[in-house]
Amino acid sequence: MKKILVIGGGAMGSAFTIPCLDNGNSVTITEPYSIRFIKNLSSKNKFHSALKINLPKKLKFRNFSSELLKEKFDLIVIALSLPGIDFIGKELMKCKIRSPILVLTKGLKYQKKAKKIFTISKKLNNDYKLKNISILKGPCLAKELVRKKQTSVIIANKNIKIAKAIGKLVSTRYYLIEYSKDVVGIEVCSAIKNIYSMIIGAGQSLNSSSNLFQKSVIEMRYLTKYFKGKEETTLGLAGVGDLYVSAAGGRNSKMGSYLGKGFTFKIAKKKFMPYETVEGEQLAREIAPFIFKKIDKKKIPLMINFLRAIINNKKLKIKV
Ligand SMILES: NC(=O)c1ccc[n+]([C@@H]2O[C@H](COP(=O)([O-])OP(=O)(O)OC[C@H]3O[C@@H](n4cnc5c(N)ncnc54)[C@H](O)[C@@H]3O)[C@@H](O)[C@H]2O)c1
Repeated sequence: MKKILVIGGGAMGSAFTIPCLDNGNSVTITEPYSIRFIKNLSSKNKFHSALKINLPKKLKFRNFSSELLKEKFDLIVIALSLPGIDFIGKELMKCKIRSPILVLTKGLKYQKKAKKIFTISKKLNNDYKLKNISILKGPCLAKELVRKKQTSVIIANKNIKIAKAIGKLVSTRYYLIEYSKDVVGIEVCSAIKNIYSMIIGAGQSLNSSSNLFQKSVIEMRYLTKYFKGKEETTLGLAGVGDLYVSAAGGRNSKMGSYLGKGFTFKIAKKKFMPYETVEGEQLAREIAPFIFKKIDKKKIPLMINFLRAIINNKKLKIKV
């Protein structure tokens, strides 16, 4: 039995504890930010308000603290959303964490000073001196995983032995794991699919969305290669795999459908999705300054149009 700490009691962090528990591990979850999730996880019946399910009694909840981080864990899992990455990087650096880290968060970070885009694992390593970082990405709806629906994801580490050791801890008959050494490619794909699923969602018929899907894959392949990932990663679970699930349903494509109907982002957000986080929009704001300056606009016309619409709060004009 290994000791696993999951940081982030949102939908994904909580769902991820299920295969970890089923694999016979001792699993602790902690929540540093959201009062709603703290209430859910510390309640007697552990009813999770986002997942609409009672989590298992054997899942341990602990308040977030430096003392907790300093305890010895065999694996620390980061399941916060992108805005929490700097916070947790600082906390883990302060506690001089040496345990292996597994990052579930999807996204990219723009480093203003260096004028560079960093993947999350690179950012945690560069800015917060964290070592031994693996990443887990792929098509996974937390609501399905928590109900043990078959799910396939991919763990990446340049040292494939470390990735496989983690896979052994977390895989079950319903949570299937693939492995890769292409950390950059997988992080880039799993982040930008949030933007492309909004673009596909903007198609106003299945025919037009299919066209946008195909063009999106071409752009994803270009961007993956640009950031020095492997082109073929685009065709894997973190690329087209995750793009499919995000485009078929989810908050990004839902927002995309309003943009496609002619609403500006701000109006659509206020009118239809006031309390929902739209990760594709957060990422668009993060990477737009870099994309506009550094990347050949002709290679990624869908992305460029989309970023202009979000940043300038203008109507989205799809050009294919
Ligand atoms: N790897 C995978 O298989 C997979 C699958 C689905 C989602 N995800 C990713 O997991 C992450 C979390 O998704 P979710 O569905 O659980 O979202 P959620 O909204 O349910 O939970 C978000 C979590 O981040 C925390 N958080 C938000 N803002 C924060 C801040 N400023 N500082 C500190 N913590 C903050 C919240 O408290 C909560 O714990 C996202 O990046 C998502 O893309 C990964």
